[in-house]
Amino acid sequence: MTKNSIALIGFMGVGKTTIGKLLTQNLGFDYKFIETDELITQEAGKSVSRIFEEDGEERFREYEISACKKASKLNKTIISCGGGVVLNKINVTNLKKNSYIVLLKATPEEIYERVMKDGIESRPLVNKEDPKNEIEKILRVRSQIYRDAAEIIINTTEKKNKVIINEIVKKTLLKT
Ligand code: S3P
Repeated sequence: MTKNSIALIGFMGVGKTTIGKLLTQNLGFDYKFIETDELITQEAGKSVSRIFEEDGEERFREYEISACKKASKLNKTIISCGGGVVLNKINVTNLKKNSYIVLLKATPEEIYERVMKDGIESRPLVNKEDPKNEIEKILRVRSQIYRDAAEIIINTTEKKNKVIINEIVKKTLLKT
């Protein structure tokens, strides 16, 4: 069976949510948009930051496994995945069943700017004394993990959103 959903993966601040929403609009009314972080906050009844603070990262990752399992069963859905979804292989295995796994890449500078603009308070992993250093440190650890999980890699640097979206559609749903 051909896949009909798309899971956007990549580091915080690469534009998964922005691109995901635009992509969904572009695909028409029968496509839906969801975020794994939103499924998690619904299940936990509290924000991502509060889960990290009160229950710890390990508990957050358990919620994330459950969210990915739910998301992986949805048809015609654009799934914006939290940046750490790839840390548990089971998430990638589950999502791959019905979704093309698309990695969005950006430079550490672009990521830093976006994370600071969107509000760092909602990103507990980099909400530290030196966020830039934290971003670079985590990126170094995760770069290969993202590449291994991805079926399609899209470099977003200096590309307009429309170009990025067309590239995603061409390499996934329109692939023959
Ligand atoms: C995380 C990324 C966040 C969120 C949580 C952990 C990560 O999602 O899931 O703060 O480990 O990279 P975004 O990538 O949507 O910011």
